[in-house]
Amino acid sequence: MRQIDVCLTPELLHLYPVEGKVVVVVDILRATSCMTTGIAYGVSKIIPVATLEECAALKKQGCITAAERDGKKADGFDIGNSPFSYMEESMRGKTVAVTTTNGTLAISKCKTARAVVIGSFLNRAAIIQYLKNQPYDVLVVCAGWKGKINLEDTLFAGAVVEGLKEDFFIEHDAALASLALFRQAKGNMRGFLNTCSHVRRLKNLDIDKDIDYCLSMDEYDVIPILVGDALVLNEEVLAENGVVKK
Ligand code: MLT
Repeated sequence: MRQIDVCLTPELLHLYPVEGKVVVVVDILRATSCMTTGIAYGVSKIIPVATLEECAALKKQGCITAAERDGKKADGFDIGNSPFSYMEESMRGKTVAVTTTNGTLAISKCKTARAVVIGSFLNRAAIIQYLKNQPYDVLVVCAGWKGKINLEDTLFAGAVVEGLKEDFFIEHDAALASLALFRQAKGNMRGFLNTCSHVRRLKNLDIDKDIDYCLSMDEYDVIPILVGDALVLNEEVLAENGVVKK
């Protein structure tokens, strides 16, 4: 039987081999919410990179550059890490190079997986359906905050575990813990997260509207999937690469 597991922080990835698995990387506030939104709004490719230097270098190749550190837009780049920036008409058809504090670093650590897809509450239902329809073990990798566990990513992991629990075997307790937490929070996610560290951090930066948006459920039926160095819309990829048949 296929297994579903959860790695609560990239610091524990050495305990969770990704080879042969489909990895769902999640950074609810806000990297993977931005990536889901961008692909949904017609951004052609999103290239996640771990460092500001790598991101700056891609500007010379015609990329729009998106950079965030500690919740704030990094100086010298085109946009920061608000999902609303990815909705702009000017982003349609473009390639975006992005680096964030945690989310893009987590993606960079999962590149040897069979497939890497991007999860958020915005595409939760689409992710669950995609995972049900493919034959491989699944690992949800939470981006956390600078190596520490965060609540919002853990809740998303629990939402995925809840969606897959009839079809996948839950072996380890991190998955059970995330499931229990999601069941407790799902009736009032905003209230449950109101005091969590990154919500407080973003509120201190007057970025409240991003929070409510990133916590909205099942807005888009898209799955950003990593092909080479870039995230693209899954339909085209699966047709071409057959990486993981839908
Ligand atoms: C992260 O990478 O941890 C987040 O995306 C940071 C943010 O955008 O606030």
